[in-house]
Amino acid sequence: MIKKGIILAGGTGSRMSPITKAVNKQLLPIYDKPLIFYPLSVLMLAGIRDILIIVNKGQLNQFKKILPNGNNLGIKISYAEQKTPRGLPDAFLVGKKFIGKENVALILGDNFFYGQSLTKRLQQCVKLKTGASVFLHPVKNPSLYGIASINKKNKIIKIIEKPKKHFSNLAVTGLYFFDNKVISYSENLKPSKRKEIEIVDLLNKYKNKNKLSANFISRGGAWLDTGSIEDFYNTSSFVSALENRQGLKISCLEEIALNNKWIGKKNIVNAIKFYGKCNYSQYLSTLLKI
Ligand code: TTP
Repeated sequence: MIKKGIILAGGTGSRMSPITKAVNKQLLPIYDKPLIFYPLSVLMLAGIRDILIIVNKGQLNQFKKILPNGNNLGIKISYAEQKTPRGLPDAFLVGKKFIGKENVALILGDNFFYGQSLTKRLQQCVKLKTGASVFLHPVKNPSLYGIASINKKNKIIKIIEKPKKHFSNLAVTGLYFFDNKVISYSENLKPSKRKEIEIVDLLNKYKNKNKLSANFISRGGAWLDTGSIEDFYNTSSFVSALENRQGLKISCLEEIALNNKWIGKKNIVNAIKFYGKCNYSQYLSTLLKI
């Protein structure tokens, strides 16, 4: 069972400058809550309760104001700083001590997932013992993403970052499950031309050993971008449309924790006090009546 998860929430956020000169992208709102709530909810839905959030140097206090230590969610949140955004696999070097001898999940702080049976699939993924597994999602413009093709057994046979020639429309999303070898593999990665260590190179190490398997977010599910201002608006509209239609919130952390029986109603009362008078608290108060 994978019990530990990392959220990589540093980065430069250059596409969203000037706002990201002052604030970390993951603290900006997607509709009614900070972006970081969405990837955190994915780890919680997977049943992961021991979580490391990696942030940029000097940003710890901003994050701790909104997500102090996880107590009120029945989870454990710890933090580490990344000196510079030197690539996604750096998560496993910064998080080496946190991971210890265990397997680990990684989710990028700006990734948004939603869909029927997502929880069930996540709960399958955390059963990983050896190798690695990723989530794939069909996209219209494969040349903008890391793209994978698979064989009949759902093993990945080819991955290329931003391919110029079309060979598949399946993008590799920012949610990964790894065995403990991920630390030594990451330590041996060489920086690419853009001076970053690359997730594709790491995944290729698993692929070359026939140890990289695929899961799918299919038509009924969504993996949305949040990298640009335009993406922020589009994803916010998606959340707003669903929440206002259903009267149910996407990625309400307290609701997930309550459903998982990690917290009780007293914690919901505390959360309402903490957030103050707002739409999110109003939703939390409906949970007390169930
Ligand atoms: P990116 O989309 O590669 O980069 P970014 O968020 O810095 O934005 P931009 O491209 O506009 O400059 O990163 C994906 C996620 O991973 C994002 O949430 C930031 C995070 N990240 C880190 O925390 N550390 C890193 O070294 C890298 C490369 C990304």
